[in-house]
Amino acid sequence: MSTSHSQSRTTVRSVASLRGKRPIVALTAYTTPMAKILDAYADILLVGDSLGMVLYGMESTLGVTLEDMIRHTQAVMRGSHKALIVTDMPFGTYQASPEQAYHNAARVMKESGSHAVKLEGGVEMAETIAFLTQRGVPVMAHIGLMPQHVHVMGGYRYQGRNATEAQRIAADARAVEEAGAWAILIEGTEAALSETITQNAAIPTIGIGAGVACDGQILVTEDMLGVNPNPPSFVQQFADLHGQMHHAAASYARAVHERAFPTSKHGYVSKK
Ligand code: KIV
Repeated sequence: MSTSHSQSRTTVRSVASLRGKRPIVALTAYTTPMAKILDAYADILLVGDSLGMVLYGMESTLGVTLEDMIRHTQAVMRGSHKALIVTDMPFGTYQASPEQAYHNAARVMKESGSHAVKLEGGVEMAETIAFLTQRGVPVMAHIGLMPQHVHVMGGYRYQGRNATEAQRIAADARAVEEAGAWAILIEGTEAALSETITQNAAIPTIGIGAGVACDGQILVTEDMLGVNPNPPSFVQQFADLHGQMHHAAASYARAVHERAFPTSKHGYVSKK
């Protein structure tokens, strides 16, 4: 069989092999320009369903569609040649049955070129994770705080606060690993519990608001860059793009008002 695989593309295996060597770097990306910038620095670019809130101003991730995820993953693929691209399965596209999940995950991978999918759930999704993995769909399982469960949880409250919750989340981690997930994303979870899960797992854990002990970390890029001026408390902002964008927009508006922009050098003048 003749093959023409890209030599430099990160794979689920190469991410897994980083475990114990160095922390895994993951960020969200939704667009080509952002993917072009982040690709050099991130092992994993997640096309997260957080795009519903970050890009479209939705109140939660529940309104995001499969078509949204495919379109944005296509955009990210165009801007990336190195990172592993993981696409979130949106609410209502995988929970009904393993067959529904496979049908939609296969669409995501065929139509966008994405390398893996992420879905929310633990014990209750184990059968689906096994079904997908056995049929060629690598699955990252998302446990702990699961934003698609916002109405069941009654808000975005961090998880693992008491022994019952901790036992449930630890059981979720075991179940998704046994089902064949290649990685576990742990969101908004008590730090000591994430540490125990990481110690007991044989696959990488990627944390967001889940303490320091996970094998890797992920943030929503717009939170990390300070585009969002009010990020969750676990975020460190590595830039103040909100402030810089306000400053740039104000400077542009002033220049237009004062006729300082455009000048003759910004126009087209035909040479006669
Ligand atoms: O949708 C998303 O961006 C996510 C992150 C919060 C990890 O799931």
